[in-house]
Amino acid sequence: MNTKNESILVMDFGGQYTQLIARRVRECNVYCEIRSYKITAEQIREGGYKGIIFTGGPNSAYDENGPKCDPALFDLGIPVLGICYGAQLMAQTLGGKVISIEENREYGKTEVEFNTSSLMFHSAQEKSICWMSHTDRIEEVPHGFKITAISKDCPVAAMEDITRNFFAVQFHPEVQHTVEGMLYLRNFLYNACGCTADWKMDSFVEETISSLKEKIGDKKVLCALSGGVDSSVAALLVHKAVGKQLTCIFVDHGLLRKDEGDQVESIFRKQFDMNLIRVNAKDRFLGKLAGVSDPESKRKIIGEEFIRVFEEESKKLGKIEYLCQGTIYPDVVESGAGESAVIKSHHNVGGLPEDVGFEGIIEPLRDLFKDEVRKAGLELGIPEFLVYRQPFPGPGLAIRIMGDITEDKLEILKDADAIMREEFAANGLDKTTGQYFAVLTGIKSVGVMGDGRTYDNTIALRAVTTGDFMTADWARVPYDVLEKISNRIINEVKNVNRVVYDITSKPPATIEWE
Ligand code: XMP
Repeated sequence: MNTKNESILVMDFGGQYTQLIARRVRECNVYCEIRSYKITAEQIREGGYKGIIFTGGPNSAYDENGPKCDPALFDLGIPVLGICYGAQLMAQTLGGKVISIEENREYGKTEVEFNTSSLMFHSAQEKSICWMSHTDRIEEVPHGFKITAISKDCPVAAMEDITRNFFAVQFHPEVQHTVEGMLYLRNFLYNACGCTADWKMDSFVEETISSLKEKIGDKKVLCALSGGVDSSVAALLVHKAVGKQLTCIFVDHGLLRKDEGDQVESIFRKQFDMNLIRVNAKDRFLGKLAGVSDPESKRKIIGEEFIRVFEEESKKLGKIEYLCQGTIYPDVVESGAGESAVIKSHHNVGGLPEDVGFEGIIEPLRDLFKDEVRKAGLELGIPEFLVYRQPFPGPGLAIRIMGDITEDKLEILKDADAIMREEFAANGLDKTTGQYFAVLTGIKSVGVMGDGRTYDNTIALRAVTTGDFMTADWARVPYDVLEKISNRIINEVKNVNRVVYDITSKPPATIEWE
């Protein structure tokens, strides 16, 4: 594809920021791929990469057993940038010296002084804050290299060999704390590698549609649409390519947020004129879930039932050659040294069966990060509220109702949750909060309303800020917003007499309550 003419290879040495590095490169409008450090020089040559970035990693470059790169890659004439461990590995491999500095290890925001006549720090400030995290450092640079940055405890904070186009930085340009990190990266990508920043979403969308047209021909495609951003964008790309040859099945298990099922149906059927089958399976799911309290059993039941409904519906449609899935790049890349691109099955509700008899799988978003999927979604005309929708778990409200699920409980939770979402949007908190929702806690408590004693349900409000959903902090929601939500829930939702706010971070708690 044209947009991938220029590709950067991100070689993964097991660093925690591998995916972040790749995202930053993409933000510079340059396509990149993450591969294991085990990739050979020959494979790199065949890949036609315009540049290579070595990531950080937990090992020591002088450790015999630590991950090493194929040294022949330095003879390919391709520019290389080493970051942290990657910098040390470059130094060690090319004849420099790396030592341990247990005593004076650098961690956190550190002032670094730059030689701004170097290529990588061209136009940068002479002194700037960078993010350091290392217990080893480069003590001697290899032959041909010049030191281009220093810090108090790091005599080689950066080095470059401009003749061979090799660059190394001890700090992490990819993290936000490195104030001018993006400038350094752009200097490497544009000035050293000669990339022209042609990775753009409009051309991605255009080219994906035309290659899907070619691949699918006159065959049929089936897609499970959940209303989440990934499956929506994937389905729409296929729809733009082959129109009514695509059929989408939307299994509405009745555990979606208030009015969500109708919204999904209206957007895809009315706005995009898609071939959409909505299966209203609420009674079926609630029947299976009756009396079940254990969270994992609920998940399992919903996952299995989802597959069953999907299979039944797809059988009714006769022969369909392709299955379209919303797999995105982070699902495809298994980060961590020693593993190259391991394919994970795409889980949402329970994962779709692999043996439904399709000739092939279509995954138009396999190369994209989440923020790129969103850009593609906007490009395709999907409404903003759907594109920026917060993540919603496959088992839906079932894991936000503690204990067993009944229709009454579902109604209470849907109403309370809708109020919370309305108020978050009205106060602009929907854009800054990673995830926010109401939970029906299963706790009943005593209250007083009017002159009477009540004994009723407790709603918990949960809101977290998070980048990756692996860790999360409870959101510091302004008291007046909490007050408004609480008042509205008590006044507008029957059978609730108490509202509490969850002030636990993850860890130790999880984001969801079940
Ligand atoms: P936790 O609760 O583990 O959630 O901190 C992390 C993220 O995962 C979502 N989540 C799920 N998503 N099926 C899903 O599709 C599930 O069973 C499930 N459980 C949690 C959760 O909403 C949050 O975004």
